[in-house]
Amino acid sequence: MKRSTSAKFHIYFIFCASFFISAISSDTLTSSQSLVYNQTLASPKNVFEFGFFNTTSSKWYIGIWYKDFPDKTFVWVANRDTPLQNSNGTLKIQDDGSLILLNQESSIIWSSNQTVSSVSNPVLRLLDNGNLVLIEEQEKNNTNYIWQSFDHPTDTLLPGMKLGWNLDTRVEIRVTSWKSQDDPSTGDCYFSLDFHGVTDIYLWNKQQRVFRTGSWNGKTFGGVPILNTIAELNDEIVADNHQAYYYPAGLLQSNLSRLIVNSTGSIERYAWIWSTKSWSKVWFAPAVDCDHYGACGPFGICDANAFPICECVTGFDVKNQRQWDLRNFSDGCVRKTELECGKDKFLQLKAVQLPDTRNVFVNKSMTLFECEKMCLDDCSCTAYANEVITNGGTGCVMWNYSLVDMRQFSEAGQDLFIRLAASDVDEADAGSAGGSQKNAGKIAGITIAIAILILGVIIFILRKRRKLKRIQKVNTNQRGHSDKGQKTLLHEVKFSNSGEYSDERNIDELELPQFEFHVIADATNCFSLANKLGEGGFGTVYKGRLVDGQEIAVKRLSTSSGQGNVEFKNEVRSIAKLQHRNLVRLFGCCIEKDEKMLIYEYLENNSLDSILFDQAKNSKLDWPMRFNIICGIAKGLLYLHHDSRFRIIHRDLKASNVLLDREMNPKISDFGIARIFDKDQTHSNTKRVVGTYGYMSPEYAMGGYFSVKSDVFSFGVLVLEIISGMKNRGFHFSDDLNLLGHAWRLWNEGKVLELIDSSYADSYSESEVIRCINVGLICVQEKIEDRPTMPSVVMMLNSETTMLPQPKHPGFVLGRNPGESDSSSARQEESHSINQVTVTIVNGR
Ligand SMILES: *[C@@H]1O[C@H](CO)[C@@H](O)[C@H](O)[C@H]1NC(C)=O
Ligand SMILES: *[C@@H]1O[C@H](CO)[C@@H](O)[C@H](O)[C@H]1NC(C)=O
Ligand SMILES: *[C@@H]1O[C@H](CO)[C@@H](O)[C@H](O)[C@H]1NC(C)=O
Ligand SMILES: *[C@@H]1O[C@H](CO)[C@@H](O)[C@H](O)[C@H]1NC(C)=O
Ligand SMILES: *[C@@H]1O[C@H](CO)[C@@H](O)[C@H](O)[C@H]1NC(C)=O
Ligand SMILES: *[C@@H]1O[C@H](CO)[C@@H](O)[C@H](O)[C@H]1NC(C)=O
Ligand SMILES: *[C@@H]1O[C@H](CO)[C@@H](O)[C@H](O)[C@H]1NC(C)=O
Ligand SMILES: *[C@@H]1O[C@H](CO)[C@@H](O)[C@H](O)[C@H]1NC(C)=O
Ligand SMILES: *[C@@H]1O[C@H](CO)[C@@H](O)[C@H](O)[C@H]1NC(C)=O
Ligand SMILES: *[C@@H]1O[C@H](CO)[C@@H](O)[C@H](O)[C@H]1NC(C)=O
Repeated sequence: MKRSTSAKFHIYFIFCASFFISAISSDTLTSSQSLVYNQTLASPKNVFEFGFFNTTSSKWYIGIWYKDFPDKTFVWVANRDTPLQNSNGTLKIQDDGSLILLNQESSIIWSSNQTVSSVSNPVLRLLDNGNLVLIEEQEKNNTNYIWQSFDHPTDTLLPGMKLGWNLDTRVEIRVTSWKSQDDPSTGDCYFSLDFHGVTDIYLWNKQQRVFRTGSWNGKTFGGVPILNTIAELNDEIVADNHQAYYYPAGLLQSNLSRLIVNSTGSIERYAWIWSTKSWSKVWFAPAVDCDHYGACGPFGICDANAFPICECVTGFDVKNQRQWDLRNFSDGCVRKTELECGKDKFLQLKAVQLPDTRNVFVNKSMTLFECEKMCLDDCSCTAYANEVITNGGTGCVMWNYSLVDMRQFSEAGQDLFIRLAASDVDEADAGSAGGSQKNAGKIAGITIAIAILILGVIIFILRKRRKLKRIQKVNTNQRGHSDKGQKTLLHEVKFSNSGEYSDERNIDELELPQFEFHVIADATNCFSLANKLGEGGFGTVYKGRLVDGQEIAVKRLSTSSGQGNVEFKNEVRSIAKLQHRNLVRLFGCCIEKDEKMLIYEYLENNSLDSILFDQAKNSKLDWPMRFNIICGIAKGLLYLHHDSRFRIIHRDLKASNVLLDREMNPKISDFGIARIFDKDQTHSNTKRVVGTYGYMSPEYAMGGYFSVKSDVFSFGVLVLEIISGMKNRGFHFSDDLNLLGHAWRLWNEGKVLELIDSSYADSYSESEVIRCINVGLICVQEKIEDRPTMPSVVMMLNSETTMLPQPKHPGFVLGRNPGESDSSSARQEESHSINQVTVTIVNGR
C-alpha cells in the first residue's frame, strides 16, 4: 500500500470502507472483545482510526492512520517486523492486561509486553491525538496509561509524543523509518536525541550520522533556526538528571501536523491544510549541502551561501588541498601555527552553529568570562561558548578536541570562541579592518566587488595620467600574485587599499558626489520631525530640499556601524554606479565624523505598500498602472540579476521596498544598503532581519540558501499582492491559507479572476491579469528549478503570444508565514522603506 496518492488505491479504500470495514461502535475495545481484519477503532472525533491493513506484498499489519483522509497516511504500526501472512489475525487484551496480536495458528506474533501486577478491567482506547492507550476502564480521566503507543513510535512523531531518553532506565524512544514506502518494517534511517554534552538530534542512515539539528540553545536547535520560526512553533526540550526528551509542538495554524523520517533518509515536517485537503511540507532536512553532518571536516565551516560552501576557520589551512579542490572537504583544516599553552588567544566567530557537542564539558551556571578563563587554563581546551542564548547567554561549553560540523549563518546561531596561537589572532585582527571573520564567503564576495572597484579606480587614475607610484606598485603586486588564487589577491588589494587610499584627495577625484553635513542639515530643516518620512532598522529617513529646489530623501544611518569611512565610500560608490530607471537613484553621501548619510532621489508617491494596502488610496492604482508597476519591477530586478556589472541579489524585495514616482513608475530601493553595514553590528536598533517573512522562498527561509530564484519568489509574491491588493503576510482567507495558497486554489478551481482587487474592477484586461497571475504563480513555485529566471519573466510578461507553463504547487501556503512569531514581527518596523535590507553581490562579472 503506497503512502502516496494513488487513485486506484483510493477507490479500493472507499470500496473497503463502505463494504467491509465496520468500526467497533466506538473508540474503545474491552477485554471481552477482540478486533479482526474488517473492524476498526475510531477516535472520538474521527481523527484517527486503528485497525488492520495490508501492503502490496499481501502482508498484514495493525496500525493507526488518519481516518477519512484522502491518502491513507499511517502514523503508527504495531507489528512492523512481524507481519501477519494473511488477514486472519486477532487483536485482544490478555488477562494480565497486555495487548496481543494472534495469527491464524493463535500464536502471539506481537505483544505490548508490559506487565502490570494488578489491572482491573483494562480497555484499549484510541485518542484524538493518535495515541492508542491501555487504561483501567473506571478511571476515565486517568492519564496513567498502562501502556501507550506514543512510547513506541514508528516513523512518525505527533504533537504530544516525545523523543529521547529515560536516563534512569536507559530506555530510548527514537523514530525509525519504514524500509520503503510500501514496507513498514524497520528501515535504515532514524533520528534520535543525543543527551551527551548539549542536547541535539541526529539523523542516522545506515549507521552514519547524516544530519544534526545543532545543539539546543534554549530556544531552538542551533542548526535549524527555521524550526523556531515556523509559525509559532514551540518545540521543547526537557532535560535533567532523569530524562532528556524533545517534545515536538503542533503547528498552531494547522491542528494536525507530523514529523517523520522517510525511507530515503529525510526528516520531514508536515501540516494538514484543511482548505486544500492536503499535507503541506513545512520543513525538511537535509535540504542543502551544509546540512550534511560534518560537511567541511574538522575546523571547517560551512556557509550555504558561499562558494565553495566550505572555508577553514581563520588560523587554519586546508589539510588536503587536492581533495579540497575536488570539493571533497572531509579532511578539513589544520592549524597554521601550533598552540603554545599560556600564550594563546581566542578568536570570536559570530552567528555560527556550534560544533558537535557530544564530548564537551558543560557547566550551566558559569558565565562566559569564567568559561574563558577555564578554557585558557586548560591546555586541551580548543574552544568555548555559552551553553544557551537565552537571558543574554548563560552557561559554559568547552571543547577539547577538533571542532566538527560548524555552520555560518547570517542572523541566527551564536558566538563561538576558538583558541588560536596569539600570532594568528593578531593577524586576523589586523587583516579584518572593520570586517569580521564570520561569513567569510560573503566578505569574499564583497571584497571582489571592492577589488573590481579598485581596479576601476586604478584604470581611471592611470587614464588621467596621474603619477601615483604607490598605486602602480599595488597594481604590479596584483599581477604578481594572481596565480595564487583569488583570495590571496583580494586580501592584498584590500590591504593596499586601506594603506594607500585613505587620503581624502583621491576619493574626491573620483567624482563621488559628496554633500557637506550643513547642506543636508539645512535641506532637512535640521532633521526636523516634520521632515521625517520614516524610521527603520538602519536609521531614519528625512525628506529634504536642496537650495536649487531638488528634492531629496536622506537616510541618516545609525552611528554604530563599525565600518571605516573608506570602505563606506567604496561601497557607496559601487551602488552609485548602478543605474536603471527602475532602481532608486543614489545622488551621493555625506560622511562627517560619526555621521553617515545616503542621499537619494525623492519619490513623490512614497512606497508601493502605502498605496496598495490602503483602502482609501488603492483606487489610485488602476490596472494599466499596476501592470506597468509589475513590468517595471521585473525590469529593475532583471538589471540587478543580469545586466549590472555585478550579480546582485536583493534578498528583500517587497512592497515597501518599491517606491513610486509622480507617474507611478516603480523604483526598487534598498538594493545596496546592507553592504554598507558591518555585519557585526550589535546595536539593538539596527539588528538586521534578513529578508521579510511572507516574501521569503522556502529554501531561503529553511536552509538559508539564496539565489536569484529567491528574489524571483519574492517577485511572484509581490505580483500576486499587486493584483489582489492584499498582503501575503497576515492574509487569512480561510483560516489557514495565505495569499499564495488562496491564489493557487482559485487557479485550480478556474476562478482566478476572483483574486482581482475590486478597486480596479472596471479597468482591467482579462488576458493581462490572467497572464500576470500565471507568471506570479510560476515564480512562487516550491521547487527552485521550476521557477523561471528574470529574463524569461520579463519575456512572459511582455509577450501575448508566449504559451505560459502551468504553475505547480507554491511554496509556503500556510496562513501564517514561517517566522511570523511575535518576537520577530516586533523586530520588523514597517515604515517607509528603510527597514531590514540585505543585498549580496555574489560574483563579479
Ligand atoms: C467480518 O468478516 C467475518 C469473516 O470474514 C464475517 O463473518 C463478518 O460478517 C464480517 N463483518 C462485517 C461487519 O463485515
Ligand atoms: C490487500 O489485499 C487485497 C486482497 O486480500 C488486495 O486486493 C489488495 O490489493 C491489497 N492491498 C494492497 C494495498 O496491496
Ligand atoms: C482463521 O483461522 C482459524 C484457525 O485456523 C480458523 O478457525 C478461522 O476460521 C479463520 N478465520 C478466517 C476468517 O479465515
Ligand atoms: C516483547 O518481549 C519479547 C521477549 O522479551 C521480545 O522478543 C519482543 O520483541 C517484545 N515485543 C515488543 C513489542 O516489545
Ligand atoms: C472527567 O473529565 C470530564 C471532562 O473533562 C468531567 O466532566 C468529569 O467530571 C471527569 N470525571 C472525573 C471522574 O474526574
Ligand atoms: C481542526 O480544525 C478543523 C477546521 O478548523 C475542524 O473541522 C476540525 O474538527 C479540527 N480538528 C480537531 C482534531 O480539532
Ligand atoms: C523523503 O523526503 C525528501 C525530502 O522531503 C524527499 O525529497 C523524498 O522524496 C522523500 N522520500 C520518500 C520516499 O518519500
Ligand atoms: C575524500 O577524501 C578522503 C580522504 O582524503 C578519502 O578517504 C575519501 O575517499 C574522499 N571521498 C571521495 C568521495 O572522494
Ligand atoms: C575531553 O573532555 C572529556 C570530558 O570532559 C573527557 O572525557 C575526554 O577524555 C577529554 N578528551 C581529551 C582528549 O582530553
Ligand atoms: C559550575 O560552575 C560553578 C561556578 O564556577 C561552580 O560553583 C559549580 O560547582 C560548577 N558545577 C559543576 C557541575 O561543575
